[in-house]
Amino acid sequence: MSAPNKSYDPVEVEALKPEEIERMRDEALAAIAAAPDLDALTHVKTAHAGGASPLALANREIGALPPQAKAEAGKRVGQARGAVNQAFAARQTELEAERDARVLVEEAVDVTLPYDRVPSGARHPLTTLSERIEDVFTAMGYEVAEGPEVEAEWFNFDALNFPPDHPARETQDTFFVKGPDGGDQSGVVLRTHTSPVQVRAMLERELPVYVIAPGRVYRSDELDATHTPVFAQVELLAVDEGLTMADLKGTLDHMVVSLFGEGMTTRLRPNHFPFTEPSAEMDMVCYVCRGDSVGNPDRPCRTCSSEGWIELGGCGMVNPKVLTACGIDPQKYSGFAFGFGIERMLMFRHSVEDMRDIVEGDVRFTLPFGMEI
Ligand code: PHE
Repeated sequence: MSAPNKSYDPVEVEALKPEEIERMRDEALAAIAAAPDLDALTHVKTAHAGGASPLALANREIGALPPQAKAEAGKRVGQARGAVNQAFAARQTELEAERDARVLVEEAVDVTLPYDRVPSGARHPLTTLSERIEDVFTAMGYEVAEGPEVEAEWFNFDALNFPPDHPARETQDTFFVKGPDGGDQSGVVLRTHTSPVQVRAMLERELPVYVIAPGRVYRSDELDATHTPVFAQVELLAVDEGLTMADLKGTLDHMVVSLFGEGMTTRLRPNHFPFTEPSAEMDMVCYVCRGDSVGNPDRPCRTCSSEGWIELGGCGMVNPKVLTACGIDPQKYSGFAFGFGIERMLMFRHSVEDMRDIVEGDVRFTLPFGMEI
């Protein structure tokens, strides 16, 4: 008879010896306890509880044991693996709690820190006033028209009936753009008013034309309390059949009521512009004293110097020569136009005393106007 199969002797399955299982378990527990963070713990798990870990390999050896030894070995390995898994879960919970606590500290936001250290700006009152004026007219069906600030002399002067020797063309009034040869005869200027936009509008648009042209203009003035070499104008132009001075006057009155309130009116005084005929200077009733200061020394008005009227700008019926220069038949069509400076209006509408405050761009000036839109 042959001897019993030696390989069934549990004593000879080295990996399943109780001390061996204990050693594997203790090694795993020690590694788990020593894992400093969750990453390290993941590696420990692979090494000590993964499919190729000593305990998993030992588990596979159980099949080689005789039936009577299997149960005990299975229990021993199972208990060891259970202990390792439990320790692993406990360490994981512990490390997660540590990480959460650390994140709370490291990523905490101090809500008491000042949040507005970058001060917010404000829209410039020139922009908001200009937009208000545009609104008045776009509501009446006018379109906003724009043109270049660096303008051909022809649009700025010739088409507007300025004779070649008109004083406005002098260099003391107008900035001429130098030509490629460095000379002043480039035929290009920084526009001195928004009236060239009238010309462009008449040339480019279908009749009738109803446009409002806001924009920056340039004149060679020194910057002081009442002058600035760069300022903003708004110009209006209407060309249609049968327009008269009465339409001009009605439009002006509507504008001052819209901008300054009920009861406001305008008046016209004769004047001269090459591009309008007849031409007028337009004034509006002083919106502060409404004329009450006139002849009333007890109630002087600083806004209008007790004159009762505030000068607004220029206006008139479009000169037939300008219509003709723009290809429009003056027998059939007539037009009216007006233009005024926005800085001046801003000054008396908001009691700004020095024009330099408007152009210097200091946010302390614009902020009190708020975010009027
Ligand atoms: N363009 C003129 C100026 O700058 C103003 C104006 C516009 C006058 C339209 C009459 C008609 O002073």
